[in-house]
Amino acid sequence: MSRGQEQPLLQVRNLSISFSQYFKGTKQRVIRPITNMNIEINEGEVMAVVGASGSGKSLLAHALLGILPRNAICEGTILYQGEPLTEERKALLRGREISFIPQSVNYLDPLMPVGKQVQIGLKKNVAKTVQRRLFQQYDLQESDGSLFPHELSGGMLRRIMFATSIREEAKLVIADEPTPGIHPQALAEVLKQLKQFAEKQAGVMFITHDIISALEVADRVAVIHEGSIIEVSRAEAFEGKGEHLKTDYTRKLWRALPQNDFDLELIDGGGDK
Ligand SMILES: Nc1ncnc2c1ncn2[C@@H]1O[C@H](COP(=O)(O)OP(=O)(O)O)[C@@H](O)[C@H]1O
Ligand SMILES: [Mg+2]
Repeated sequence: MSRGQEQPLLQVRNLSISFSQYFKGTKQRVIRPITNMNIEINEGEVMAVVGASGSGKSLLAHALLGILPRNAICEGTILYQGEPLTEERKALLRGREISFIPQSVNYLDPLMPVGKQVQIGLKKNVAKTVQRRLFQQYDLQESDGSLFPHELSGGMLRRIMFATSIREEAKLVIADEPTPGIHPQALAEVLKQLKQFAEKQAGVMFITHDIISALEVADRVAVIHEGSIIEVSRAEAFEGKGEHLKTDYTRKLWRALPQNDFDLELIDGGGDK
């Protein structure tokens, strides 16, 4: 994390996201999967956001990117570089200063050569040059550019995806579970990339349900539970029996990991160990 900066790169204050739903045909009710959420990310920092499935991780990412479903009602304040991140600003920065690394390589177009896909969103006159540079950066051969996704290995596809998501001017990188079920080498590569963005002073939000991966790169870890951030701790606090963690929930999450002997007596209802 860089020191002496005046303000966090990103400040989310009291964010709530609700959906109006119909049930029993005509009756309407409002559900609110994100409630008064607060989180801040500094330049040069990897902030992991960890939480169970359905806790609201993707909604948070989509709110920051301005890609929530149309019927979502979003309340609260999001500041980026100290200024309100309005929907117009999100649309302007998305894919440029604010990069999104999606979960799946299925985001790639199966019918378009991968080199072309990396050029999408780049200015026409420099697209080719920038694509070449990105290929070098991600250890891809120039000739790979004319191949289609099905002709590439999983590891190469993931690197292509980074090359399509990341632009030189990226200042905030949002990665939504970029590591589901990938083999260890590809995982190490993704983690390395995330770290590199932070080393170049970008703020990185690394969304995952995998605490162990998160701890390999994160400076801080935010724990999301039922739509709220219930704890933000430095990565170093995740050690031993979690004595330095702030909430019981996070301590339980930590102690229940296989590496920590599945200390299940700490999990509600799991006291038969
Ligand atoms: N379009 C939607 N309409 C209604 N509820 C939604 C919608 N999208 C997500 N939700 C609800 O919000 C909760 C959080 O979803 P999500 O952010 O995708 O979770 P996560 O990414 O942590 O697994 C889920 O329980 C889901 O029911
Ligand atoms: Mg999700």
